[in-house]
Amino acid sequence: MDEKISIVYQGKTYESPVITGTKNEKAFDIANLRKETGLITMDYGYQNTGSTKSSITFVDGEKGILRYRGYPIEELAEKATFPETAWLLIYGDLPTEDQLTAFRRLLTENSLIHENLLHFFREMPPSAHPMGILSSIVNALGLFSPRFYDTENQAGEFDLMVAGLVSKIRTIAAFSYKASIGEPFAYPEADRSYCSNFLNMMFSSHTKPFVVNPLMEKALNTLLIVHADHEQNCSTSTVRMVGSSQANLYASICAGICALWGPLHGGANQAVLETLLRVQKSGMTVKQVLERAKDKTDPFKLSGFGHRVYKSYDPRAKVLQGLMEKIFSHEDNQDPLLDIARELEHQALSDDYFIERKLYPNVDFYSGILYRAMGIPTNMLTVMFAIGRLPGWIAHWKEMHDDPCSKLNRPRQIYMGEKERHWLDREERA
Ligand code: ACO
Repeated sequence: MDEKISIVYQGKTYESPVITGTKNEKAFDIANLRKETGLITMDYGYQNTGSTKSSITFVDGEKGILRYRGYPIEELAEKATFPETAWLLIYGDLPTEDQLTAFRRLLTENSLIHENLLHFFREMPPSAHPMGILSSIVNALGLFSPRFYDTENQAGEFDLMVAGLVSKIRTIAAFSYKASIGEPFAYPEADRSYCSNFLNMMFSSHTKPFVVNPLMEKALNTLLIVHADHEQNCSTSTVRMVGSSQANLYASICAGICALWGPLHGGANQAVLETLLRVQKSGMTVKQVLERAKDKTDPFKLSGFGHRVYKSYDPRAKVLQGLMEKIFSHEDNQDPLLDIARELEHQALSDDYFIERKLYPNVDFYSGILYRAMGIPTNMLTVMFAIGRLPGWIAHWKEMHDDPCSKLNRPRQIYMGEKERHWLDREERA
């Protein structure tokens, strides 16, 4: 049965069709609302606003479900590799053996960045935040491949651009770390897996060969997979927003990286570790942290807790819990911050403030501790998130690009400022 919604305004009725999604989610279609009634909708933070139809990722925030292209995150985290997941998100299906082999080859062939870009790393102050470096270099990558700016009718060009970005992002991340500690760059090696290559570029040096621990390699693979997409989040919506003006993929991804940087979004993983370190070093108690988080006069929030969509346990955080059991059951991998995090979670989940507001640990609460076990420094944590999220951004950019219904994204506003005023000469101004 076709459902409809009616709005009566100034004696006129506006009738809207109800759009129903695959999982029976409903939307009220307001495409003609302004034309027919003169009204616009007002929705700070877009809490009730659907910006697109999408076939990439399904999230049920009440039940704690996350699926990429229909596949549950738990299955992908256990069985897939990150390049396979990237392919799935971007192209829509799991790759065949031949497709995966070809994709791996492209990743290997496109792992280096132009040598001219290496100056950029070396000229940045060591204190430069790696997210700023990453966003700048990703945008600059486009400058070295302007032929990719127009991908219309050029078979294979998009695939090359995808492989280049997915492969080079880890090279850029590792090089920015090496530059910040004043060590020579370690180049990607053809016979390594995606994750092993990254860890090797981060931690090997000419004086100290690095042996990649298979447990850490697997953990990195899982972390990247759980971050790979999350439908219309802030950074992905930014990629779509910028891409809607037909800006090129590099510029759109660069904008997404900047959006991810903020502590309310991907920057939360760095903020969580900073909070845990503060508890460890300053003697501040877990109870005091929670009191600050609950105090409405204090801007401090408990980072890694709460989510716009999840009002139950974030399924990604559950996957990471399993990973932690494996890693921290080894004697060599102990971290006092884990005990502090567990105590924080325990106390928050039994506190009325957090219970009433349905605030649970999100993916960022434990990811930092896992990355720390690999030796990733705190200021690189959001970069790790960006490496993981890249396939999702690309998938959404492509979906928007291919969608005949796409339009330039351009919200409206309700103007609340001064009515018309007229120019005053300087001596007339009060
Ligand atoms: N600590 C303390 N209070 C919180 C927290 C938190 N982490 N999160 C939400 N609240 C409170 C809010 O103050 C608000 O309280 P009120 O109703 O008394 O005013 C209520 O819970 C609802 O929160 P909102 O901020 O309105 O919810 P929103 O959907 O806008 O926020 C957000 C979601 C931004 C993620 C929020 O929970 C937050 O700031 N969390 C901490 C930062 C964080 O972990 N971000 C990562 C999110 S996951 C990701 O991006 C990958």
